[in-house]
Amino acid sequence: MEQKRLAGEKSTEYIKDGMIIGLGTGSTVYYMIEKLGDMVSKGMKIKAVATSHSTERLAKTFDIQVVSIDEVDHIDLAIDGVDEIDSSFNAIKGGGGALFREKIVASLAKQVIWILDESKYVDAVGEFPLPVEILPFGYTHTLKRLNDHSLNPELRVVDGNTFITDNGNYIVDLHLGKHLNIREVIQKLNSVTGVLENGFFINMCDRIIVGSEDHVKVIDNPCKYGGNGAIGKYK
Ligand code: 5RP
Repeated sequence: MEQKRLAGEKSTEYIKDGMIIGLGTGSTVYYMIEKLGDMVSKGMKIKAVATSHSTERLAKTFDIQVVSIDEVDHIDLAIDGVDEIDSSFNAIKGGGGALFREKIVASLAKQVIWILDESKYVDAVGEFPLPVEILPFGYTHTLKRLNDHSLNPELRVVDGNTFITDNGNYIVDLHLGKHLNIREVIQKLNSVTGVLENGFFINMCDRIIVGSEDHVKVIDNPCKYGGNGAIGKYK
């Protein structure tokens, strides 16, 4: 938890007065929002766009002004968690099921920062099951087609109930393993009607902040530091 706290709190140093901030989802983001709430209580003026209902509720408890994504014409900075990321900034997100909104917010943001504990900074992504948002209508057929592509799909069930996203859809977790070919998996996913979005976030962030036992490391994306040009490289 301390590693997440260190990363979350450090990320707030990039938040400046007047910014529109994209707030991610998850336990690491919690610490960023808690600290941001403190900054707001001391007079900082920002607006926030939330990537999930749970984040919206949390931000409001800290008196952070939350606006709808359609009320803003841009987002200055999005700060979010991540499930796995490698040194080429290939990432998997969506462990909390908010990947679709997280991807929309990240794609609109001028700058994207992800915060994580060091266990998530890996040599190759794929051990963490890839979350994929699918339409409930015809989901058994979608699952079958994903299975036909050898993508090892598992419908996400929480406490005995099918997990429902904030968009009213289902999540399928793909058990792919480390030796996956990202481009090939994305091509297969894009060929299946019923698949709405996948949890690959390829080269979408500008820097990561990695919390360790007693320090934080800031690693800038060598390919795109300062810009957002390479979004959707494999799409
Ligand atoms: C939610 C996400 C989260 O950012 C990701 O799962 C990391 O969560 P946590 O900080 O709780 O480990 O993608 O959809």
